[in-house]
Amino acid sequence: MISTMIPDRYDVIRLGKSEVTAAATTLARAFQDDPLFVYLIPDPVARQNALLVILQVMVRYGVLYGEVHTTSPNIEAVTVWLPPASAGMSFWRLIRSGGLSLLTKLSGRTIARLWRFNASTAPLQRRLTRLPHWYLGFIGVEPAYQKQGYAGKLLRYMLSRVDREHLPCFLDTQNANNVAIYQHFGFRVVEETIIPGSALKYWAMLRDRVE
Ligand SMILES: CC(C)(COP(=O)(O)OP(=O)(O)OC[C@H]1O[C@@H](n2cnc3c(N)ncnc32)[C@H](O)[C@@H]1OP(=O)(O)O)[C@@H](O)C(=O)NCCC(=O)NCCS
Repeated sequence: MISTMIPDRYDVIRLGKSEVTAAATTLARAFQDDPLFVYLIPDPVARQNALLVILQVMVRYGVLYGEVHTTSPNIEAVTVWLPPASAGMSFWRLIRSGGLSLLTKLSGRTIARLWRFNASTAPLQRRLTRLPHWYLGFIGVEPAYQKQGYAGKLLRYMLSRVDREHLPCFLDTQNANNVAIYQHFGFRVVEETIIPGSALKYWAMLRDRVE
């Protein structure tokens, strides 16, 4: 059941707790070949299962402390946004979002890689985002629905709101293909690096506040 309908010209729907698994399933399919998750979980079948575990926690976090949006009751596309007050993820909130399942359901190697990835990106994020900002935690579209405007619809909805609030927006990506898409929506690269001990590239992108 869809919990909160936002009547809006963008037809964007805000999801609640009862849609966590459905939203995580869409994101898991979208991120199956994402460079970060290929690095974290090289085996494709293990990755499919682990992605659902990780993304259920992330979507629940978004529902509890931010906003999770989709395009229709079919949940073809999902965004997870964290607002200025909660843009940096907290350990206790992660636990309240079911984060312990990461320890019990993921392999030791995946947890170690996730830990190393966070250890190198969290300080970067803190340094680059000193002002209040919205954080785009995840955006993903079901593979069968990609390149049909679903991501654009979700992004435009939130970016117009962020602009009305005169706030900047931050995101990071490990996928070179996405950099140009985000530039198309007004983000600029503020940091480009390689995650130490891996071949994983990392781009931090900021969309400046409008006056
Ligand atoms: C990245 C992703 C979310 C894009 O979703 P999508 O629904 O296919 O995107 P859309 O069809 O809405 O297109 C988005 C816009 O980017 C534009 N765009 C696409 N490729 C572009 C490129 N190489 N350069 C510039 N603009 C580009 C499109 O023209 C479109 O602009 P428009 O709305 O003004 O016409 C989707 O491919 C996906 O889920 N990928 C896997 C998961 C992922 O990588 N998520 C992001 C992690 S950081």
